[in-house]
Amino acid sequence: MKIGIIGAGNIGGNLTRRLTALGHDVSVANSRGPATLSALAEETGATPVTVAEAARGAEIVVVTIPFKNVPELPAGLFDEAAQGFTVIDTGNYYPQQRDGRIAGVEDEGLTESRWTERQLGHPVIKAFNGTYAQDILDRHRPAGAPDRIALPVAGDDEAGKKAVRALIEELGFDTVDAGGIDDSWRQQPETPVYGLREGVDGVTKALAEASPVRPEGFRG
Ligand SMILES: NC(=O)c1ccc[n+]([C@@H]2O[C@H](COP(=O)([O-])OP(=O)(O)OC[C@H]3O[C@@H](n4cnc5c(N)ncnc54)[C@H](OP(=O)(O)O)[C@@H]3O)[C@@H](O)[C@H]2O)c1
Repeated sequence: MKIGIIGAGNIGGNLTRRLTALGHDVSVANSRGPATLSALAEETGATPVTVAEAARGAEIVVVTIPFKNVPELPAGLFDEAAQGFTVIDTGNYYPQQRDGRIAGVEDEGLTESRWTERQLGHPVIKAFNGTYAQDILDRHRPAGAPDRIALPVAGDDEAGKKAVRALIEELGFDTVDAGGIDDSWRQQPETPVYGLREGVDGVTKALAEASPVRPEGFRG
């Protein structure tokens, strides 16, 4: 599958490593340009590209950059993506540590991924946001393994969600349908499922136990 990854940090770098290992055709971009991605490209065989090129021909585009930087992404980002492409959003809003106050979340009460969708002008599937980056490399297991962990996946586009769940399962994790983007507060920072390393039953239970009240430590 042709996959574009925007962001080559903890999450983007490790997704690049695993997706190339599985034989996917990965293009990867960061803010500083492809010349700064030569080590990752050499290690993985991914193609380093500019942000503007990252979605070209991609069936799946992963946006994995700091939340506050999403509005910096260029207009027309997805113009050359494949027909029916899907966007994965791994983002989290850390107002006190990194992102500052974002009115759409704080005043309008948008879920983090709904806010991101509005910046991108395209629906997203929320996945990996509560996954430790290192777990992408270390905790993948074959289907049926007793210690295989599950990741929650939320989104309004059912076909896109199905495609993303299939990709995550190929990466070595079970998935749990966490509902639509308006439900995705259930997997935001400091919820019971955030960072949880459990299987389908544990993740399902944790999603059900989430509170819609934004925790004090995650208010701007
Ligand atoms: N770290 C984790 O374990 C973890 C787990 C789950 C979810 N998340 C979330 O996933 C997102 C990414 O986290 P991370 O830890 O992978 O971040 P990170 O290590 O800080 O890496 C961020 C990446 O985004 C790139 N970037 C920043 N602004 C950009 C822009 N305007 N255009 C293109 N690329 C840009 C950076 O490129 P340059 O280096 O060139 O600036 C860098 O490659 C965040 O929202 C984070 O909260 C993180």
